[in-house]
Formats: sequence, structure tokens, C-alpha cells
Amino acid sequence: MVSEKLIEFLNKAIAAELQVSIQYMWQHIQVTSLEGAVVEGIFRKIAIAEMKHAERLAERLDYLDGVPTTEPDPIFVGGSLVEMLKQDEQNEEEAINLYKQAIQQAAKEGDYTTRRLLEDILAEEEEHINTFGKLLVGITEPFTQPGISNVQ
Ligand SMILES: [Fe+2]
Ligand SMILES: [Fe+2]
Repeated sequence: MVSEKLIEFLNKAIAAELQVSIQYMWQHIQVTSLEGAVVEGIFRKIAIAEMKHAERLAERLDYLDGVPTTEPDPIFVGGSLVEMLKQDEQNEEEAINLYKQAIQQAAKEGDYTTRRLLEDILAEEEEHINTFGKLLVGITEPFTQPGISNVQ
């Protein structure tokens, strides 16, 4: 079977997924302002994606005879929309780093199914950070989007 280290990686990932699934869903509830009206559906959609990640990781951990944690990492809600997006971007970056390390560990142990699962999730986290990053630029620098200045 797999090492304690890999089990630990999976549980760390579950705690982070539980955190962001709650965090993004609550941001969806709490966000205000005109921009917020546009963004709230995106928070909701990503929150649901994160809950699915937690589920898939917990299923895999159970198969590997681990016990999936029920404890989320600390949840950040409230603040302005820009503060929310900066926090979310940071959480996605942390998730990307964690998945990259966990993928290496799974590969080292020859656990290719776990590796594939982690790679699938990693690709989605990269989409999330891209989405949050674009929203941040759109809100903080709406008139300096790349390419716009070159349009004749
Ligand atoms: Fe996720
Ligand atoms: Fe994510």
C-alpha cells in the first residue's frame, strides 16, 4: 500500500478543498456591488467544483485505507471583492504547490491512479487561479487589459 506521507498529502488536500468550497460559497452569498453581481455566480460554480475535489480525494483516501479529515483549513470570508479575490488567488496558488508535491510523491510510490486524480485536480486549480487573476485585473485595472491599447 502507499506511504503515510502520501496519505498525509491527501488529507492536507482534503482540508484545503473543504476550506475553499466553504469560502467561495460564502463569498458567493456575501459579495455586494455591481461587480459582485457579475462575480457571484463564478464563486458558486468554483465552490461546487472544490467540493467535488474533496469528494474524489476522500474516496481515494478511503480506498487506500486512510481516514478522510472533516476539518477544513481556516476559512477567509468578508472584506471587499478585491480582498476576496486576492485571498482566493493565494489559496489556489497554495493548492497548486501542494498538488505538484503530492503528484511527485504518488509517482515515486508507483501509485499512478492517485497521480492521475491529482493531475486532473491540478489542471482545474490552474483554471481557477486564471479566472480569479483575470477578475482581479478586470476590477483593479479595467482600462489596461493586454492588447487593448494596440487596437487601432
Ligand atoms: Fe480544488
Ligand atoms: Fe480551486
